[in-house]
Amino acid sequence: MLDITITRTTAPKQKPDENHLGFGHFYTDHMFIMDYTAGQGWHSPRVVPYQPLLLDPAAMVFHYAQESFEGLKAYRTAEGQVQLFRPNKNAERMQKTHERLCIPTIPVEDFVQAVKALVSVDADWVPSAPGTSLYLRPFTIATEAHLGVKPSDAYQFIIIASPSGAYYAEGLNPVKIYVEDEYVRAAPGGTGAIKCGGNYAASLAGQTKAHAMGYSQVLWLDGIERKYVEEVGSMNCFFKINGVIRTAPCSGTVLPGITRMSCIELLRDWGYTVDCETRLSIQEVMEAAQNGTLEEIFGTGTAAVVSPVGKLYYEGTEITVGNNEIGPVTQRLYDTLTGIQWGTLPDEKGWVVTI
Ligand code: COI
Repeated sequence: MLDITITRTTAPKQKPDENHLGFGHFYTDHMFIMDYTAGQGWHSPRVVPYQPLLLDPAAMVFHYAQESFEGLKAYRTAEGQVQLFRPNKNAERMQKTHERLCIPTIPVEDFVQAVKALVSVDADWVPSAPGTSLYLRPFTIATEAHLGVKPSDAYQFIIIASPSGAYYAEGLNPVKIYVEDEYVRAAPGGTGAIKCGGNYAASLAGQTKAHAMGYSQVLWLDGIERKYVEEVGSMNCFFKINGVIRTAPCSGTVLPGITRMSCIELLRDWGYTVDCETRLSIQEVMEAAQNGTLEEIFGTGTAAVVSPVGKLYYEGTEITVGNNEIGPVTQRLYDTLTGIQWGTLPDEKGWVVTI
């Protein structure tokens, strides 16, 4: 159990208009920080006023990208309560990221306690307008000032919070996706299955190309053959083909999304066959679109929630999915998941943690 000290701001900020939040534009009054020092471990957990960081320019995070991050949300229920969705899963995933990047791990209960502490202090920042939440961004950075390549001796674990609305400007309208056949996001043995900034930096060239062509996101193919669908930069991707729901297996190059695992569980409860073990080739997707068996495509993610995909572009051909409208399974998943998160549906699975 952490002994968290709390220093409240003396200059609270003005809160933004809840109906025009967008994603990731505004930050609350406070932040959580905890330090790691070799020989001492994680120490000095504290909630302090939101402020810039003071780091040595030689801090290793700037040079060798030893960094991890997570994303989760706090939701306000109609009764005014604040709740989190499966925060222990974020804590467990961050441990895996830290192990892969040689960063000391943080106990699951400490991570969850830190999240709760910040959300409690900034509780009046959890918005209540429909479709809004307080997006939480825990991250760890290597802070030792050193230019040799090796694991850092010092780190900071920080949590910031951002009142946010929909991730995509499209909201729940279908997004257009560009299938990238030149750049790759991940390769076996690499870092595709963990959440680190480097994965996202490497995705920007593909994303910029996609944007220039009028597409909002990139669908990545496997790094060896550029044949099998993997994930979209900010979400996992599901395909309903001939009644069966398929998504890329999490076998080392795909991020194990918490929304992904929750959707698979819900879909199986509803009696759908979900195949998340067999790889799906982009050729199969294009053929299913031609022969009329491609029923729905949707993405899942904490920020993106459940987002319908209306168009897919691959090597000169653009296909339209479900008349470019949200499909029934996508809609049901969105309604059920957000119903549990905002407390309008019962939490039969014990996924919700009340603050
Ligand atoms: C999230 O969904 O929380 C993510 O971390 C994706 C992010 C790149 C917006």
